[in-house]
Amino acid sequence: MRETRVIRVDPTAPEPDAIAAAAAVIRAGGLVAFPTETVYGLGADATRADAAAGIFAAKGRPTSDPLIVHVAAVESLSQAASAIPPLAFDLARHFWPGPLTLVLRRSDAIPAIVTAGTETVAVRMPAHPVALALIAASGVPIAAPSANTFSRPSATTAAHVLADLGGRVDLILDGGPTPIGVESTIVDLLADPPVILRPGGIPVEALRALIPEVTLRSRYLTEQDGAADAPGQLIKHYSPRAQVRLYTGPDLDRMLARMIDDASKAAFDGQRVGLLLFVEDRAAFYSVPAQIAELGSESQLETAAAALFAALRDLDERGVDVIFARDPGREGLGAAIWDRLLRAAEGQVIVA
Ligand code: TXA
Ligand code: MG
Repeated sequence: MRETRVIRVDPTAPEPDAIAAAAAVIRAGGLVAFPTETVYGLGADATRADAAAGIFAAKGRPTSDPLIVHVAAVESLSQAASAIPPLAFDLARHFWPGPLTLVLRRSDAIPAIVTAGTETVAVRMPAHPVALALIAASGVPIAAPSANTFSRPSATTAAHVLADLGGRVDLILDGGPTPIGVESTIVDLLADPPVILRPGGIPVEALRALIPEVTLRSRYLTEQDGAADAPGQLIKHYSPRAQVRLYTGPDLDRMLARMIDDASKAAFDGQRVGLLLFVEDRAAFYSVPAQIAELGSESQLETAAAALFAALRDLDERGVDVIFARDPGREGLGAAIWDRLLRAAEGQVIVA
């Protein structure tokens, strides 16, 4: 165990002292958890194999799951990647800083452990003043997965990081809750046409404006299918301790009726029931004895995305056995929310 220091920072104008202390940890090969606009990252010097190895150890993450390299400027793309196609610069100039990760050819500066032994590398420039200041002060690109224990919901607050990784990281920069709440959209630019490997903070629709032919790869691999073509894409991910039961279907009223029925039965059978609900759904569930976590309005998916991981963790803490959740639709951030729910549900969907 190591001692984990927590330093509060102003998320809009981080204190130079705090950033200098964190950068010193990175330069010494240590681990710093820091806020990005999506979720908290667990950072280490991306150019040092020993530092990156510490990330895998702290998270309990298999080394077959590659890390995202974070840079502080579009021009720094070439620190992490080589043979960069013009489209990468176009996308970076358009969406960076922001929740878009580009998969490119690896540069020699990035050790193989960061990319899980592949010749490709995932790179992004986060839109968070704390993350940008930390990368700039460290003087190196920072490798950072989400700062949660492997297969747990990602951390959107410093408290989540501390709960999962306290005693395993050197420093946590507490910049408050992360604004977007779901991870970055990952686009594989080595595929032709480019493929979205993970829906995230940049909606598919926004990407289509620049890459009309981009496709969304199905991420719903099972453990048996293996993840050979898609490192780190095992279906069990973002899982709360409770079992998640996820509902979909063409008719909202029918879907809700089925959920209410099933949740009532579960409660009657003595299970502690959790409900992950939009405000619009709440009244329909009045008769179900349950712990409720709200995602805000169904017409405000930004709010739902920002609340999602904290809500799953919150229901876990309230000791529920099973969490009932429903399809948010696939438009805008709906695709990313659905993806995280589907993985929390380990790929099981109930079609009503
Ligand atoms: O928003 C985010 O992307 C957050 C913040 C901290 O930046 N990071 C994040 O990292 O979500 P992580 O490690 O939880 O997810 C990274 C995923 C890997 O699991 C893998 O699926 C994919 O990115 N990935 C990384 N490198 C890759 C590569 N070279 N080829 C294909 N996929 C890659
Ligand atoms: Mg993650």
